[in-house]
Amino acid sequence: MKSPLRLTGVGLRPQHYADFLEAKPAVAWVEVHSENYLQPPVNALNNLEKIRKNYPVSMHGVGLSLGSADELNWQYLHKLKELITRIDPCLISDHLSWSSINGQYLHDLLPLPYTEETMAHLVARIKQVQDYLQRQLLIENISSYVSFSQSTIPECEFINEVAAQTGCGILLDVNNVYVSGLNLGFDTNDYISKINANAVQEIHLAGFIVNTVDGKDVLIDSHSRAVVPAVWELYRETIKLLGRKPTIVEWDDNIPSIDTLFLEAQRAETIMRESYDTAKLTG
Ligand SMILES: [Fe+2]
Repeated sequence: MKSPLRLTGVGLRPQHYADFLEAKPAVAWVEVHSENYLQPPVNALNNLEKIRKNYPVSMHGVGLSLGSADELNWQYLHKLKELITRIDPCLISDHLSWSSINGQYLHDLLPLPYTEETMAHLVARIKQVQDYLQRQLLIENISSYVSFSQSTIPECEFINEVAAQTGCGILLDVNNVYVSGLNLGFDTNDYISKINANAVQEIHLAGFIVNTVDGKDVLIDSHSRAVVPAVWELYRETIKLLGRKPTIVEWDDNIPSIDTLFLEAQRAETIMRESYDTAKLTG
């Protein structure tokens, strides 16, 4: 029998509803995409409510468009709050990004210029959202393919400061740090070492693919394959630096069997245990 994981969970996708309802894999928690349950087929919400009886559920969204110059979408927030009341999630998160303009939503999470002006805008909006939901929000660093020449603050410092000024938490996606670091040319270990450990309440892991554009390799955050060895190493370093953190393995395309997904989660749990033991021996 598989020993139960204590801190590591997986993204819950419809392909695995039956596994979670019947075999009950021994993961510590699950995370859902909030948008899939705001106007869901009744079946989806019923399944989630049943699974919720056996697992803590985190609600991870892409719809807040926190960095946009558009008004906050109060209709969306109202539905999100209803879902929060119904599911009572352990964590609620969205992204350090924007994805709407003049009310039109794009399919991507787009990067922001990291300036004092953007900071003030984000801080005000995150406070509004937290006040309305009466819950703390976690903000996730995205995978970036371009950056703004106007940026004056490194992303790691920017996200720390947003958390300090709003009381929001950080959802540190280690794969996104790796993808952005290689695409934009920053030092990923340096980034992780500067993140405020106390603000990090969750970590994400996922797999990426590599596309060649104009002769240059571009890492694409596809969530379509297993976590790559270099990201496992960065995760190990992250745990050493930040301590053990609740972790979710995300997998959204070419979704594998629940057993494969469980093995990925188990690997993260093992790294957490080993890193903790090492820290105890050397600390
Ligand atoms: Fe993520």
